[in-house]
Amino acid sequence: MTILHCPACSATHKPERARWLCHCGSVLDVEYEKLQWKPKGRGVWKYRTLLPFAGKSITLDEGGTPLVKSERLGLKHLYLKLEGDNPTDSFKDRGTTVAISRAKAEGYKTVAVASTGNMGASVAAYAAHAGLKARVFVPQDTPKEKLAQILAYGARVKKVKGTFKDAVAAAWRDVEKNGSYLAMTGLNPFYNEGEKTVAYEIFEQLGAPDVVIVPMGTGGLISSIWKGFVELKKMKKIRKIPRMIGVQAKGCAPIVDAWRRGAAFATPKEKCETIASAILVKLPFSSRLALRAIRESGGVGIAVSDKEIIRAIRELGREGVFAEPASAATLAALHHVKPQQRQKIILVITGHGLKQPGAALA
Ligand SMILES: Cc1ncc(COP(=O)(O)O)c(C=O)c1O
Ligand SMILES: [Zn+2]
Repeated sequence: MTILHCPACSATHKPERARWLCHCGSVLDVEYEKLQWKPKGRGVWKYRTLLPFAGKSITLDEGGTPLVKSERLGLKHLYLKLEGDNPTDSFKDRGTTVAISRAKAEGYKTVAVASTGNMGASVAAYAAHAGLKARVFVPQDTPKEKLAQILAYGARVKKVKGTFKDAVAAAWRDVEKNGSYLAMTGLNPFYNEGEKTVAYEIFEQLGAPDVVIVPMGTGGLISSIWKGFVELKKMKKIRKIPRMIGVQAKGCAPIVDAWRRGAAFATPKEKCETIASAILVKLPFSSRLALRAIRESGGVGIAVSDKEIIRAIRELGREGVFAEPASAATLAALHHVKPQQRQKIILVITGHGLKQPGAALA
């Protein structure tokens, strides 16, 4: 049995059809009556007993990504979680498989999503695989490689004037007007549940890490990974939750700014600019959860410059890993903390470099 819990006003809701937000306007969190650790099979659905869907899954064999030990970055226990190895080349597939499985089971015919590119590509692919129509709302300056990927999966792409914030408003209108299923991180609580499997896999591959560094756009991924570790602790699999370090680009860092101010949630930015297009999010709707993850784990928020990100893409390249700018931001952030040689540190490399290859030529 699952229940939806509001982190802002503590209200609880049944997971009924078209329940996206709390009546207070906050995004929702999924909670379970009983946590059962019974990994079986492969990928995301290996952790079926800890996911909010029990029916036939819509899957492209997502998850089960490599955890590669770094050999060339000067630290003894540095590991790269290669989420670019997912079916559509980013971690989003973990959330999409859960959200689209529910959409199909609930009888929806169309799904809608606003995206900086990666979530749109993922939802387009899984909707295609499920035989559903997808409408993807993207900001005008979305990299053309990501647009090509979305189009290749047969989705309808709507370029929205403005930024991700405007794309979100357009997706909402589609949900309200046409009754589409909203398949988005944060706004769809089931999406985040799939993403938490990153934590379960790291635990199975390495045991409990000391530090996990995650790029933040909406703040959904970092809060999901943290939730995964919190659940592992509740199930007595680990003793200590790793420090969660959240990274944004200096040109667009509403969550890091809020962390520095000691605020409970982020204030939307008026203007944003960065090469890391995947995390260019002015209105981070999961900021409350992300800030809780950072604070309760004893972590920090770090903002890095585009110059540092570009340098980090090259450093990761020399390790044999091609990362998109948002993902390389994790290595740029590592240079801001004083890592200890004995610590086990994870960089979550969220998307493949071929998603935005132009950045490697910058
Ligand atoms: C490659 C990449 N990294 C990080 C993120 C940030 O994830 P979130 O919006 O859940 O914070 C995104 C989101 O689109 C992404 O595509
Ligand atoms: Zn509420």
